[in-house]
Amino acid sequence: MTDNAELHERRLAATPRGWGSVLPRYVVRAENAELWDVEGNRLIDFAAGIAVVNTGHRHPNVVGAASAQLDAFTHTCFMVTPYESVVTLAERLNAIVPGGPNKTLLVNSGAEAVENAVKIARAHTGRPAVVAFAGGFHGRTMMTLALTGKVSPYKLRFGPFPGDVYHVPFPYGYHGVGAEDSLAALDDLFSSDVEPERVAAMVLEPVLGEGGFVPVPEGFLASIREVCDRHGIVMVVDEVQTGFGRTGEMLAVHHTDVVPDLVTMAKSLAGGFPLSAVTGRAEIMDAPLPGGLGGTYGGSPMAVAAANAVIDTITDEGLLDRARSIGRIVDERLGALVERVPSVGDVRGLGAMMAVELSLGGDPAQPAKALAGEVVSACAERGLLVLSCGVKGNVIRLLPPLTIPEGVLDEGLDILCDVLTELG
Ligand SMILES: Cc1ncc(COP(=O)(O)O)c(C=O)c1O
Repeated sequence: MTDNAELHERRLAATPRGWGSVLPRYVVRAENAELWDVEGNRLIDFAAGIAVVNTGHRHPNVVGAASAQLDAFTHTCFMVTPYESVVTLAERLNAIVPGGPNKTLLVNSGAEAVENAVKIARAHTGRPAVVAFAGGFHGRTMMTLALTGKVSPYKLRFGPFPGDVYHVPFPYGYHGVGAEDSLAALDDLFSSDVEPERVAAMVLEPVLGEGGFVPVPEGFLASIREVCDRHGIVMVVDEVQTGFGRTGEMLAVHHTDVVPDLVTMAKSLAGGFPLSAVTGRAEIMDAPLPGGLGGTYGGSPMAVAAANAVIDTITDEGLLDRARSIGRIVDERLGALVERVPSVGDVRGLGAMMAVELSLGGDPAQPAKALAGEVVSACAERGLLVLSCGVKGNVIRLLPPLTIPEGVLDEGLDILCDVLTELG
């Protein structure tokens, strides 16, 4: 019988080490919030393919929509002969993203969406520079690596990166960085490194994803909006990880009344199919010339059919409410550990985008990265898949599908709480 160890040996010989995997378990089946590997082991899935299956693995609506599309046609290239489903999805995303009138471009990955947002902002403003945030993650292409504010492992050995990209600190209460510190750093940046009149775009996540699940403090997005307005800078909100119900709203910006200029989306947009989008103000989206945007696979018919089903499912099954209730349950269970387990330093998040930051003795200045690795391994041994994140690698993030049954959620939280109590 093929086993995980044998497959892993073949995999290491056949694929580069830079393309890593958290857990060498080779999956043969997935259903809603559970995975099974080649040896028949079951894993409760608190990773959701890194926030990709908010609607669960193989949601019947998503599978049904993609299967029906397979029977009609699989690819014509939207840039050659278009099809209605893209127009419909664009209309729906234009309505979901605040403000308007909006327009939507579809591409394939989160990185590609962010790359295109920068291209569009440059075309609109005629300016070169881009400002991003320390701890932010925007992808693995050259421009998105330049924007990414986390060196290891993403940026190691890959420079030089495109120039004219600047970083300021992201507000991070647990580490003593307030919104006013970030805004002061931005002010300093404008006087010491780049004048705001040269800045095309500011790019930020409403909740740091890879950077440690840190929600922006109240009012921060509005302050950034105000800075962008003052200087004619395009405000780009990267909702690749926060989007499609994860935080208890369709988009995290919906928790505020801020209207960004451009929003990037991917991951759970298509419930497991590769698809991403840039949606924003029509006049900005129309700045690039005809033919300047696109790609062979942008708006793949199966992915677009899946995305239309995902949007219906989130609404029809009340998954925004469910995300909030998952967030409350996780907060209650993990929050109770802050007092009892010395290394559980902070429990935080927004909706069902929750995390626990591990610090030695609860001291924020002593990130417990090795412990986070041990927690991930121990959870996997007991049948729970969790991921770490954070600039220092010491945060355990929880991203269960929003469709997870109550009993499976409890079972997973029992494992995590036991492991944290034993190791922490
Ligand atoms: C906020 C954010 N932006 C961009 C990306 C890059 O997306 P992709 O891996 O699909 O290129 C990610 C991926 O984790 C992300 O979390």
